[in-house]
Amino acid sequence: MTKLFQNYKRAAIEFVKAEGNYLFDQDGKKYLDFSSGIGVTNLGFHPQVKAALLKQAEEIWHMPNLYHNSLQEEVAGKLIGDKDYLAFFANSGAEANEAAIKIARKATGKQEIITFVNSFHGRTFGSMSATGQDKIKAGFGDVVPHFSYATYNDLDSVKALVTEDTAAVMLELVQGESGVRPADKTFVTALSEFCQNTGILLIADEVQTGMGRTGKLFSFEHYGIEPDIFTLAKGLGNGVPVGAMIAKEKLGSAFSYGSHGSTFGGNKLVMSAASSVLDIMLTDGFLPQALDNGNYLQAELKKALAGNSKVTEVRGLGYMIGIETTENLVDLVEKACDKGLVVLTAGTNVIRLLPPLTLTKEQIDQGVAILKDVLA
Ligand SMILES: Cc1ncc(COP(=O)(O)O)c(C=O)c1O
Repeated sequence: MTKLFQNYKRAAIEFVKAEGNYLFDQDGKKYLDFSSGIGVTNLGFHPQVKAALLKQAEEIWHMPNLYHNSLQEEVAGKLIGDKDYLAFFANSGAEANEAAIKIARKATGKQEIITFVNSFHGRTFGSMSATGQDKIKAGFGDVVPHFSYATYNDLDSVKALVTEDTAAVMLELVQGESGVRPADKTFVTALSEFCQNTGILLIADEVQTGMGRTGKLFSFEHYGIEPDIFTLAKGLGNGVPVGAMIAKEKLGSAFSYGSHGSTFGGNKLVMSAASSVLDIMLTDGFLPQALDNGNYLQAELKKALAGNSKVTEVRGLGYMIGIETTENLVDLVEKACDKGLVVLTAGTNVIRLLPPLTLTKEQIDQGVAILKDVLA
């Protein structure tokens, strides 16, 4: 009898070992990973990140935020460069979004935050309340007030929700959990302009889309915008729990001494991983290659699945790809697993691919061949 809550639907497989972009189960079977542990191990199980963790563990792995932390300074510097942002480190995506919601309210003195139908921002009360999906909130009683939900890619629907008390608009540039839907460029540009003109803060939830997932360090770079606030987690630590809330310096006074905090947030161990992740991702040519390869994967999938009556669309941005299908998702994921490929789902009808950015062309071709077979 299990002693665990049954809040997850777990497959019987247990992965007990990993090397690069491959996973191994309890029977020694080898799998190609097209999931990155839900967009987390974006560099695969990378030897350089492992070495950084081991080195840090030898020295000191935790110190709270009562003391100077040069690793946090280092990671913030690598994330922000010479841009006028400040960073706060949390432990997860939900917590990064909590920090974003809090700073937006405090900095503006306003309460309303507009998010989008079918968005996903996390499971804590604030981030769940920001989430535009009823099923996520069902049964938990009153949510945090002052969130409203606009229609994705529809600026008029945002404008219709704006009041005197609107602090911010918060969005995923690719809606991940609900089905891998990239935002339209015209919509994002117009939304950013509208926010600038009205003084409403723009928050980009980059928890899933950030850290190279779409072939840029942050997905907002594809859209040529600069949000006032953005959040990161998942790929930031490549598997150790770390999130970040990054906001324009002008909002800094809202997070003054004592206003917000976290015991673990940005501890030495997770920062050592994040620093080494950034060293790899910021190496010349790494992200352009990831973008090329992500585009190649998407193009190869489109070719392989063209004319397949079970597939209604292949879409995405960089290495964040959805295959919309009429087939049963559970069966498809199981079939892919049987053939040695680990994939995810999103929404009710999408196979979601979030592979490591370090896939080789051969590994891409291997994955495409398996998916073609699975969907045949
Ligand atoms: C866009 C987005 N925001 C927030 C979260 C929540 O992150 P976490 O599970 O680390 O709290 C997720 C998780 O899937 C996400 O995709």
